[in-house]
Amino acid sequence: MHNDISKIVITEEEIRDKIRELGQAITKDYADVARSEGIVLICVLRGAATFMADLGRAIELPLEMDYMAVSSYGNSTQSSGQVRILKDLSSSIQGKHVIIAEDILDSGLTLMRLMEELKCRRPASLEVCTFLRKDRPNQAPINCRYIGFECPNEFIVGYGLDYAERYRNLPYVGVLKPEVYE
Ligand code: PRP
Repeated sequence: MHNDISKIVITEEEIRDKIRELGQAITKDYADVARSEGIVLICVLRGAATFMADLGRAIELPLEMDYMAVSSYGNSTQSSGQVRILKDLSSSIQGKHVIIAEDILDSGLTLMRLMEELKCRRPASLEVCTFLRKDRPNQAPINCRYIGFECPNEFIVGYGLDYAERYRNLPYVGVLKPEVYE
């Protein structure tokens, strides 16, 4: 598995420190509303599961965790531009403060579509916490309140990010060798 990686771009230690920082920021920003309206962390399956599990434990407030599955890529390295809801949330988000936890903002199409959908459900607020934001042209203008890392426009895997469903369990983020997917 590690042999398929050409270089590590974000180490385990950097991830740990960043999650702590994001958790502290969210704890501070949402302290006043945590016990009134309530907070819901939404995980966009499957890539964000690792991130949300760590992020949730770094937030020192009572919160709900819910899960949504959408599809945009399949087994290809390019976004299709189409997003389908494969699994919906288990509970209503109406009147609650929602934070979407995403693993990566690439074209931005997944988040754009998802935010449109969730806004219709009338949450008290809707923000995005993305672990990674890719530095690439033609990205949809998504307003992310919390961003872990800006990352290069390369084919990266690990810490939830896959290629053909593999490499999600790498504890770091690395660049996949082109010969693996070419
Ligand atoms: C990935 C990732 C984001 C989305 C980002 O999901 O987890 O949800 O693509 O890409 P975009 O900004 O170009 O829309 P994917 O569809 O690969 O599913 P997965 O989470 O199951 O890996």
